[in-house]
Amino acid sequence: MAETAPVRDSFITVRTTLPRFPFPPISERPWANTERLLLRPLSASDLQALHELRTQPEVMIWTSAGRPDIDINETKAKLDTFLTDEGNGKTFNFAICFKEEPDKLVGIGGCHNSASSFGWPELGYMFRKEAWGQGIATEFVKAWLGLWKALPRQVVTVKCDERTLRGAEDGIYEKWENDEVVEERLIAMTTEDNARSKNILKKCGFEHFLTWKDKESRPNEEEVWIDLPTFRYFPGRN
Ligand SMILES: CC(C)(COP(=O)(O)OP(=O)(O)OC[C@H]1O[C@@H](n2cnc3c(N)ncnc32)[C@H](O)[C@@H]1OP(=O)(O)O)[C@@H](O)C(=O)NCCC(=O)NCCS
Repeated sequence: MAETAPVRDSFITVRTTLPRFPFPPISERPWANTERLLLRPLSASDLQALHELRTQPEVMIWTSAGRPDIDINETKAKLDTFLTDEGNGKTFNFAICFKEEPDKLVGIGGCHNSASSFGWPELGYMFRKEAWGQGIATEFVKAWLGLWKALPRQVVTVKCDERTLRGAEDGIYEKWENDEVVEERLIAMTTEDNARSKNILKKCGFEHFLTWKDKESRPNEEEVWIDLPTFRYFPGRN
């Protein structure tokens, strides 16, 4: 059964490790190749391709916006959140291209939120519909996790939802004390009916630890409650 939404006021504080913050600026981000893909830092020249991606209704229905961008300015505002000085070091997001077309973004993915609604950093991704069904999202997530794990770490305190610390199998919370460093987590959220995304996360080593209910309000539609399966990943494990 779905559980309640996270409530920031009831978060607990734990000591843990996380990638050193701010994240490397775009100018210093690594580029990575997979068998078929190039992962490279986002750039202002990605605007048109990102707009094409963000105006595909089949893609946007699965995002929190729930609808295509209205115009290029809305896409530009989104892209700017990753490129400007402020957003640059707070996100670790990449343009995803097929190797043979390195200038044309077919997807965007990475950590777009360093403190998700559960307190931990969050991974997300989206790809043009023409690219679906070829395993490229799985290829991207596996490569991106390698980049995430390789970032230098620091010991920090994180305010997080206590449920993210639950034991994997039996619902028993991990033993931790205030001065103990708990294993760092990375969060990914999806929706119950997004079978593709759930599959990707499981194949890449994420474990489902919670499904919660959230209110979804879509343009011209009544508010509905949706189930959000939420996954965690332990970057410190092999
Ligand atoms: C979700 C998304 C990233 C998947 O991209 P993709 O490149 O097609 O994904 P992959 O091919 O790597 O993996 C999809 C997996 O789901 C499986 N799958 C595909 N369609 C499925 C379906 N209808 N039901 C169940 N599983 C399905 C595939 O078989 C594949 O698993 P397999 O490799 O074990 O066969 C893409 O559809 C997308 O961008 N959607 C819109 C945005 C979005 O949903 N983002 C995630 C938000 S949480």
